[in-house]
Amino acid sequence: MSRRAKAPTSTPLPLGRLNAMPAAEALEPCGGFFENSPWIVEEALKERPFESLHGFHAACMRVIHAAGVARQLELIRAHPDLVGRLAREGRLGQESTLEQAAAGLTQLTEEEIKAFETYNAAYHDRFGFPFVICARRNKKEAILAALPQRLEQTRTEEIRTALAEIGDIALLRMVDALREDT
Ligand code: GUN
Repeated sequence: MSRRAKAPTSTPLPLGRLNAMPAAEALEPCGGFFENSPWIVEEALKERPFESLHGFHAACMRVIHAAGVARQLELIRAHPDLVGRLAREGRLGQESTLEQAAAGLTQLTEEEIKAFETYNAAYHDRFGFPFVICARRNKKEAILAALPQRLEQTRTEEIRTALAEIGDIALLRMVDALREDT
């Protein structure tokens, strides 16, 4: 990854401290790892103690995969459109704003904005949920190239791809907010 968006949190919390916290308190620094979906971390925290960030992340992904398609769709639908109305009106949350900026999506030409609008609409029409790709791992060119390819997939494939991308988004947020004990 080249340039990363600055982490919104200040000092990363050591994993050992997270492991020792009461559940409600532990949710506070981690509840935003999955967009407006604190239920994932809440469930995964029951598996503490975690020895590594990847262990914590894997526990979260197990929660998602065990959740069933209705909740998985709820999770996907919790994500804002890239270059959507909320982004243009400056109404995204802090993390989403930084993520979209990291991909170069805040500095688009009129033509690129039109392309996003057209693709986003086609994607919503075809699948019934927003297009999700990890914006911090993809620049605008890669995202614009991925959209027509992703539109060719089946709905089942797209749900799987979207959940994997959501896992990547969450992992980067986790790496910003937590640190492994040394
Ligand atoms: N929607 C599509 N991609 C992303 C992303 O990387 N972050 C957020 N917050 N929303 C998205």
